[in-house]
Amino acid sequence: MNYRESISEVKPYLPGKSEEEIKRQYGLEKVVKIASNENPYGATPKVKEYLSNLDINIYPDNYVTSLREKLATFLNIKENMLLFGNGSVEIIQMLSRILLDEKDNIITQIPSFSSYFSEAMIQGASVKTIKYNSNFSFDLDNMLNLIDKETKMIYITNPNNPLGTCINYIDMKNFISKVPDNILIVVDEAYMEFVRDENVKSCIPLVNDNKNLCVLRTFSKAYGLAALRIGYIVANNEIIENLEKVRVPFNVSTIAQNSAIIALEE
Ligand SMILES: Cc1ncc(COP(=O)(O)O)c(C=O)c1O
Repeated sequence: MNYRESISEVKPYLPGKSEEEIKRQYGLEKVVKIASNENPYGATPKVKEYLSNLDINIYPDNYVTSLREKLATFLNIKENMLLFGNGSVEIIQMLSRILLDEKDNIITQIPSFSSYFSEAMIQGASVKTIKYNSNFSFDLDNMLNLIDKETKMIYITNPNNPLGTCINYIDMKNFISKVPDNILIVVDEAYMEFVRDENVKSCIPLVNDNKNLCVLRTFSKAYGLAALRIGYIVANNEIIENLEKVRVPFNVSTIAQNSAIIALEE
């Protein structure tokens, strides 16, 4: 087959080994896995009860109507500013698909979440990175310096994985105001629910006033639903409409949608 040139350098995703695999491999009885940031407490009792009474012969609600309504109220945003993914990782794939061509580049911090890199590479785009300092800080202005006319996206993970470092709200606001309008700023807030520092806040309230800003969130971490695969993006409706064009129909299962509603209400 004549595969696309950009695929040749891409490595398949390497998931952390399961506890069972490690037990078998090393003959251990007890293993505690911390590599994938899964919720050790599991889903809530009400989610577990819901899962024991399911109809699975009907396609999911393609518009995720009920969760959309509840989440929009919870986040104080318009319903048309939301799109759901099979995990937020699927939305990273969709964003890359609608924005990146071979000549383009993205900018992100290193170390960081691997999908920003792999999805850009699959599109044939290149990745420019900024390194953390030895005290785990990094200068957002240095990120601005990396911007060139081929830059299409900037990913900032706040808090970051795997470092746990955060960028405060004032610095984020300043940074966002300096990025040219034609470059999409993706703030990945997969871990925002865990933040206790009052100076660090979600960028969701800034999305209305900044058309080139979007925020990724997930139900995998704080809500404990990683196996069900559900995450979302908050963005202006123009971005959402373009994402809808590449979204796989019924990409979020009924079980995931309903469990997210239950978890959100709890
Ligand atoms: C920073 C970051 N973003 C996104 C994800 C993907 O989460 P999801 O389970 O919603 O695909 C992860 C998962 O580890 C992550 O660490």
